[in-house]
Amino acid sequence: MTRTKTGISGLDELIDGGLVEGSTILVSGGIGSGKTIFGLQFLYHGASKYDEPGVYVTLETRPNDLRLEALQFGWDLEALEKKKSLIIVDAASSKAGLPTSEKYAIRRGFDVSTLAEEIYRAVDDSKAKRLVIDCISALGMKFNEPSEVRSELFRISALLRELKVTSLLMSETIAPDAHSRAGVEQFVTQGLISLNLFEDNGTLKRDLLIWKMRQTSHSLKKHIFAIGKNGIEIKSKKSSTTKKR
Ligand SMILES: Nc1ncnc2c1ncn2[C@@H]1O[C@H](COP(=O)(O)OP(=O)(O)OP(=O)(O)O)[C@@H](O)[C@H]1O
Ligand SMILES: [Mg+2]
Repeated sequence: MTRTKTGISGLDELIDGGLVEGSTILVSGGIGSGKTIFGLQFLYHGASKYDEPGVYVTLETRPNDLRLEALQFGWDLEALEKKKSLIIVDAASSKAGLPTSEKYAIRRGFDVSTLAEEIYRAVDDSKAKRLVIDCISALGMKFNEPSEVRSELFRISALLRELKVTSLLMSETIAPDAHSRAGVEQFVTQGLISLNLFEDNGTLKRDLLIWKMRQTSHSLKKHIFAIGKNGIEIKSKKSSTTKKR
């Protein structure tokens, strides 16, 4: 089985060498848990180290803010964009009612079909092997029923499978122990990694847990990680008493 190296220091060892190529993985976490940095790191290292072009679909952060967020870790997205080894699809500006000068963007009213077309075009132009959607919770806003969210997500996930890209779908959680806002996102993906912030003696710490990863064995422990000058780095194995619920 071919594996896709995540580019996240210490993570591949926990999933038998990397993500299963072509799979779709949900990365869930609360506000500030590191979802965006996780996605940027996956695509930056994919393009610069492993020669795998990538597409970043941004629904909440405008592309220039994303480029700035990446630069603080020394990840020069613009250099990759010039070579077409990275394409950013701007789905954030239209949602905010703002104009955009990005080459890849949703300009008219936002809907999942338009988004799918733009994803298709970006993957085709860059010959992408990796893709990130940050975050899919923003898609769910316009649907009333979880079943509608599930069917729209199913369409996107079917498209990603067809395009054979290894994908990360970021999902924002509000309640602790939840994996998504609509409560259905985890059913359309082959894997689930949750990022968590917790308090320890008055200090916030971060940990990561792999809940599900089809077709591979994986660690079931919580792993402490830090965000440092090179991005996300897994520090230690936390063999806590926490069990899967
Ligand atoms: N240069 C840095 N060095 C260390 N930590 C950083 C650095 N830049 C950001 N962080 C940490 O990362 C957090 C933001 O991470 P990120 O944007 O990936 O989170 P997120 O889960 O996408 O959040 P949101 O819900 O707002 O989208 C910040 O709150 C901060 O704690
Ligand atoms: Mg974010």
